[in-house]
Amino acid sequence: MPDEELRADDGTVLARFRSRDDDGERVAAEVRPVPGVPVARVAAQARRDLAGFRLETPDDALAAALVADGIALERSAIDLRHDLRDLPEPVVLPDGWTLAEAGWDDDLAAAAAAAYSSGHPDGGWTENDTKAVRGMFERDDPVPPLAAASARLVGPDGRSAGHVLCAGPVPWLDYPCAWMLNIAVGPKAQGRGFGRALLTHALHGTRAAGLPTLDLSVVDDNPARRLYDAAGFQPVIRVLTLHLPAA
Ligand SMILES: CC(C)(COP(=O)(O)OP(=O)(O)OC[C@H]1O[C@@H](n2cnc3c(N)ncnc32)[C@H](O)[C@@H]1OP(=O)(O)O)[C@@H](O)C(=O)NCCC(=O)NCCS
Repeated sequence: MPDEELRADDGTVLARFRSRDDDGERVAAEVRPVPGVPVARVAAQARRDLAGFRLETPDDALAAALVADGIALERSAIDLRHDLRDLPEPVVLPDGWTLAEAGWDDDLAAAAAAAYSSGHPDGGWTENDTKAVRGMFERDDPVPPLAAASARLVGPDGRSAGHVLCAGPVPWLDYPCAWMLNIAVGPKAQGRGFGRALLTHALHGTRAAGLPTLDLSVVDDNPARRLYDAAGFQPVIRVLTLHLPAA
């Protein structure tokens, strides 16, 4: 339950939220207006008291009020969770294809860049994304990969064609889980069941690592959602993200 309060100047509680620091950025997460409080009032107070924060809310009306006030909706996504009770059978890969130890190389960077092309609902793959993944493998920054639940897809030519990258437990959540940070299959290899194979590997690996759930976030228009639904993931919370301008 969110435990911090957004209060009006007269002390009335307008909303509850959870705050955290995300790599130096202040985040007000799970901002939930108190029932009966007009969202425009919550939005106005948030702009004052949470100026400069990244605001995440499951509340469509609050997000709409902030958008009406000129703030862009940056991301509209849903967090999904698999409770690992009923796992899909491991996928048998076609001849010559294997799942290898997770890692990062130029082929994988090229596959990820092509999978997240510019029209992708998550936006394109950038140099910063590659830096973030390298940071995990090279410096455990901000967390090390969860080896058991991560893997690289290797083709018959011995080159990386995709991957799944998980971490867990993660410091930005106050409950234990494995978090799937990324799954990608290069376009040339897509549509042949490799995404499902990587996801199934992540699920079995999460259970083997002794973590209770595998969680992830997917943006509203990403067709990958069908892959997650078919594997048995369930919705946890909607996450609408906006940046409140600094005062
Ligand atoms: C998601 C992704 C890894 C799936 O890889 P894949 O190897 O093509 O997946 P599979 O062949 O195992 O397909 C599994 C299911 O995924 C769904 N799916 C996933 N991506 C899809 C897409 N772009 N278009 C259509 N269906 C898609 C389909 O329902 C498919 O099931 P079906 O074949 O029974 O219809 C791949 O599309 C990708 O790299 N996408 C870009 C990166 C991305 O969005 N990652 C997820 C971030 S949350």
